[in-house]
Amino acid sequence: MTILVLGGAGYIGSHTVDRLVTNGEKVVVVDNLVTGHIDAVNSSAKFYQGDIADKDFMRHVFKENPEIEAVIHFAAFSLVAESMKKPLKYFDNNTAGMIKLLEVMNEVGVNKIVFSSTAATYGIPKNIPITEEEFQNPINPYGESKLMMEKIMRWADEANGIKFVALRYFNVAGAKPDGSIGEDHNPETHLLPIVLQVAAGTRAKLQIFGDDYNTADGTNVRDYVHPFDLADAHILATKYLSDGNESSAFNLGSSTGFSNLEILKAARDVTGKEIPAQMAPRRGGDPDTLIAASDKARKVLGWQPQFDDIHKIIETAWKWHETHPNGYGDK
Ligand code: UFG
Repeated sequence: MTILVLGGAGYIGSHTVDRLVTNGEKVVVVDNLVTGHIDAVNSSAKFYQGDIADKDFMRHVFKENPEIEAVIHFAAFSLVAESMKKPLKYFDNNTAGMIKLLEVMNEVGVNKIVFSSTAATYGIPKNIPITEEEFQNPINPYGESKLMMEKIMRWADEANGIKFVALRYFNVAGAKPDGSIGEDHNPETHLLPIVLQVAAGTRAKLQIFGDDYNTADGTNVRDYVHPFDLADAHILATKYLSDGNESSAFNLGSSTGFSNLEILKAARDVTGKEIPAQMAPRRGGDPDTLIAASDKARKVLGWQPQFDDIHKIIETAWKWHETHPNGYGDK
């Protein structure tokens, strides 16, 4: 099967391309390289640089690769804090970009898509752990842009027969265990890479945003999942659609929560470094606690995550940070 991976040079996309290639699949990658890195893309994949919202460019990609059967779509902006300041950037790139993509898929007759959704679509959940039935009421524009994408896809399925799987990720962390691909954002805003940059000495100290949340130690609680396991979930979801199943949404998390202070402690244990940290005011758009119920993905897709221990996840990320203190070095 030939799979088109959009955003395949990004953090999660590059891990998925790598897993697909290792599994012997043919992979075509599209990425505009605004946040992605060409060195993250497995060299066995066929690469196109361009934007998914550019319909002529996307028509060209499908025309040159008529054997594409399914699309895995990662190409989106994903920073909660940035989205609070620049909401229109998120609705344009994520939501409007998806509409353009679906229009072209409809034209060329490709009718399967696996797409990155997010725990941020739930807003402040009433129930923990969060199941897929939880009411979706985002508290930041990023989550709203992804919820709109889910809703648009439902209607594109109904009217145009484009089948989809929405994968609602919780907090993604870690790197390929051999340290060859990992997380490189510029600027970096995510907790674990910042903690490890402080450990590696490329950043002075960690600021913990808020210690007055409604959690045991007052800091936010998040559920961490490894990109290697996410990659497997995308591959299983693509197979699920190829098998003729109906559109659906799945949570992807570890079903375990760690507070920001617990992540700091685990990173100190793994790295053996002091990692200076101080408390800072709350950041906008952060819910108290996000923990997934991922039973549906395990049961329906047969997903079996391998990285179920936060120390193992941090070890892989630390290997990447130690060997790539400047990331891919291209930004
Ligand atoms: N945090 C700090 N200091 C920092 C950076 C982050 O205290 O320097 C805190 C945040 O306030 C939050 C926690 O660490 O409490 C995690 O923040 P991240 O920025 O690492 O991740 P988010 O939870 O904001 O968002 C991530 C993804 C989203 C996804 C969400 C789902 O970036 O795309 O997980 O849970 F929607």
